[in-house]
Amino acid sequence: MSKAVKIATSILAADFTRLGEQVAAAEAAGADWIHVDVMDGRFVPNITIGPLVVSAVRRSTRLPLDVHLMIVEPEKYLEAFVEAGANRLIVHTETCPHLHRTVEHIHELGAKAGVVINPATPVSAVEEILADIDQLLIMTVNPGFGGQKFIEQSVDKIARAAQLRDRLGSTAEIEVDGGIDRHTAPRVVAAGASILVAGHAIFNHPAGIAAAIQELRQSVE
Ligand code: DX5
Ligand code: ZN
Repeated sequence: MSKAVKIATSILAADFTRLGEQVAAAEAAGADWIHVDVMDGRFVPNITIGPLVVSAVRRSTRLPLDVHLMIVEPEKYLEAFVEAGANRLIVHTETCPHLHRTVEHIHELGAKAGVVINPATPVSAVEEILADIDQLLIMTVNPGFGGQKFIEQSVDKIARAAQLRDRLGSTAEIEVDGGIDRHTAPRVVAAGASILVAGHAIFNHPAGIAAAIQELRQSVE
């Protein structure tokens, strides 16, 4: 595998009765980051977790915590998530009227800043912020649930985002989230993605977490 490709394990698909254990297993199996999906039942039709669980995950691993905020008014909670142990905060363009200010605030708090766009949001929506961010997350499903089917048009969208990034001289990495498995991973990596979020493919793999992570890595070798 190209060393640059990182696997961000999404705990959304984990067994929450054994969360610490499952996060530790992902770390031992070579996951690069732990991806945490925060949902509020307003921006997305599902409610998941808040800073309390982020701080529990923080105590279970030394890996960077990649926290995906699927909430309205995320600017109100940036500090709470950084205090809970988030290393990277990702906010949706669709929830941030003052995106530049929000990105600056994340950096002032000492975290890496990511911006995420929904499937129907064009790549052009991030043109003015791409040079200021550490990662651009392209949703490859509609946010809200794990285990959904990968949206095919995403492959071309990733390639266009990578072109725009290179044209602007931005160093932002491209991350993808939703329906990533051994079949879709090589295709998104070929298009320009270097951070793979995966939940279902890792935690629901019949052979277990370690085999799942190994299989995903091998698929992008
Ligand atoms: C969906 C979340 C994802 C989700 C991906 O809204 O942002 O991070 O966990 O799950 P899988 O890998 O199961 O498609
Ligand atoms: Zn996510």
